[in-house]
Amino acid sequence: MAQAIGIDVGGTGIKAAIVDTTTGELLSDRLTVETPEQATPEQVVSAAQQLVAALLEQPAVLGTFGLEGIAARDAAAGGWNIEMPIGVALPSVVVDGITLSAANVSTQWIGHDAAAHFSRAFGVPVAIVNDADAAGWAEAHSGAARGQRGLTIVTTLGTGIGSALIQDGLLIPNTELGHLEIDGEPDYERVASPVARERDGISFAEWGARLSRYYQALERLFSPRLFVIGGGISSAPELFLPHLDVQTPVHIARYNQNAGIIGAAEFAVVATG
Ligand code: BGC
Repeated sequence: MAQAIGIDVGGTGIKAAIVDTTTGELLSDRLTVETPEQATPEQVVSAAQQLVAALLEQPAVLGTFGLEGIAARDAAAGGWNIEMPIGVALPSVVVDGITLSAANVSTQWIGHDAAAHFSRAFGVPVAIVNDADAAGWAEAHSGAARGQRGLTIVTTLGTGIGSALIQDGLLIPNTELGHLEIDGEPDYERVASPVARERDGISFAEWGARLSRYYQALERLFSPRLFVIGGGISSAPELFLPHLDVQTPVHIARYNQNAGIIGAAEFAVVATG
């Protein structure tokens, strides 16, 4: 069994867990802290350190695996002795560990060497991945798009809209399809995300019409074989699926809230292994 720590940085919360990267199961509780207000690299890295420290101190984790078997915080030395890969999902375009954009986090992430920063903080190589790509990775590997041939588009519906393109199981990263211009709206996630629905106080039927325009645009551009819809809202598909007017088959994500954590952990095993 391969194990890794996955950390998912969102606009409102930072979540982490230890993951069995063969099956996608969580091997620990999922721990969450609020995202610090500015969400600067310093603040996020230090919140991630707190989370990992708490994760490694969980009695359940220690009881199951034993202190030496997995990872232990070397408190005496004031440092870390982590024997698992760590992956971090961020709402940013990520190329070679460098974050090139920042959505709902500080603009200090733009051009920041996030991989070097997290690796220094934990004393092991840390892999960095876009949050929607992490979710797509998890769904393709062991979730709702597992074994799917052709093109799958995984979307995460939350504060923004994240996208991951998976062709025959292979991820094409950093597609940022939440920012498409549709119907004259230059950044369509601003009207079609669940947060936009709440902000505008519209019904699920009205929101479904906006979402349909979005998925129809993706169909026109990419002719996918499958849409996978994830993000927090995917735990209540009955609210919006009946209002979704698309030709392409739609699967609800297997992992919704945990997809970023699982995908980041799985990516870490591949990227740092
Ligand atoms: C960001 C993406 C991110 C998505 C979901 C968008 O605003 O540009 O990088 O994947 O939100 O968090």
